[in-house]
Amino acid sequence: MKVDGKDMRPIWFDPYSQRVQVLDQRFLPHELVVNTLATVDETIFTLKEMVVRGAPLIGATGALGVYISLVQKDHKGADNDYLLSECRRLKDARPTAVNLAWGVDRVMAAALKYEAHEKRVQAALDEALTIIEEEAVNCRKIGEYGLPLIEALSRKKKGEPVNILTHCNAGWLACIEYGTATAPVYTAFDAGIPVHVWVDETRPLNQGSRLTAWELGKHGVSHTIVTDNAGGHLMQHGRVDLVIVGTDRTTRTGDVANKIGTYLKALAAKDNGIPFYVALPSSTFDWRLTDGITGIPIEERDPDEIRYVQGLCNGRSEKVLVPPENSPTANHAFDVTPARLVTGFITERGVCRATEEGILSLFPEKTPVTK
Ligand code: MRU
Repeated sequence: MKVDGKDMRPIWFDPYSQRVQVLDQRFLPHELVVNTLATVDETIFTLKEMVVRGAPLIGATGALGVYISLVQKDHKGADNDYLLSECRRLKDARPTAVNLAWGVDRVMAAALKYEAHEKRVQAALDEALTIIEEEAVNCRKIGEYGLPLIEALSRKKKGEPVNILTHCNAGWLACIEYGTATAPVYTAFDAGIPVHVWVDETRPLNQGSRLTAWELGKHGVSHTIVTDNAGGHLMQHGRVDLVIVGTDRTTRTGDVANKIGTYLKALAAKDNGIPFYVALPSSTFDWRLTDGITGIPIEERDPDEIRYVQGLCNGRSEKVLVPPENSPTANHAFDVTPARLVTGFITERGVCRATEEGILSLFPEKTPVTK
């Protein structure tokens, strides 16, 4: 996507330096910082500390992490045990987003097809870059398949802006291009359909107010940041036409793990008869799971993310303590929205109902083989 006229992605491989580079999302929107990843430890730090975040981008970073493990200077010619244990470490960096294990396993399998180290390195890089390009295309298709939903609402509203509420950042910063939840919004905007986005600020790390608002603003999309608890009120007063969110892991039966607070938005949408769509590439389905509430691991993060708020103060980035010094905090990063609250999924293969049958109608190759 373009930032101030310049093409930008949240991760890329620089062919000149042969290095992996990422946009450091901790400093957005106020500073554009680029980091180089040269070791697996740096890649794990980047994942854990949310230098990069968002399910498809986590998958892409893990994929390139496998390549990094192979080119890390002190491990040239390393054996299979080394590769497997580095892949394990990468996969453990963030537990909820299934894209991480998917990306790491896919690149590891591509590398292990070869015995010679140099061939493994090339295979790992090629596969990781293929994943990145595929995810970019998938997100573009999600935009194309989501567009008719917004067009239909726009027709119903006779050209008045369609109000779309989103939670967290499921934009291009979380993916590679277009985003998942934002892809239909960008596609509609680019097609000249008036849209307005309610952006949940998304505590504690404010991915909505820091990242989604920045992205939408850079693209010229009309938006308003609201507190995480405002959605229900807006829905009751007819100010939300559609909810679209992303997801970090979705079961084959349609239960959706996404940033904490998503479930409450889905409940409010149901109560108010507002369509609640989840946009995702197929890399975010966990085809093994049938029950999201018991099966999806929910990441618990550093309590300091709740205790401190970071922002710009007199032109400098500052962190300030909000609650009483000694009050305990609990930082559950995701929740699970049961399939019954989801109107449908927008995927790279089309839109489907949030049921196992609906999902398998788009992904028939995932139908379990019965004997
Ligand atoms: O903790 P984060 O910022 O990685 O969580 C991201 C989200 O919950 C997004 O909404 C989700 O990954 C979908 S990203 C397309």
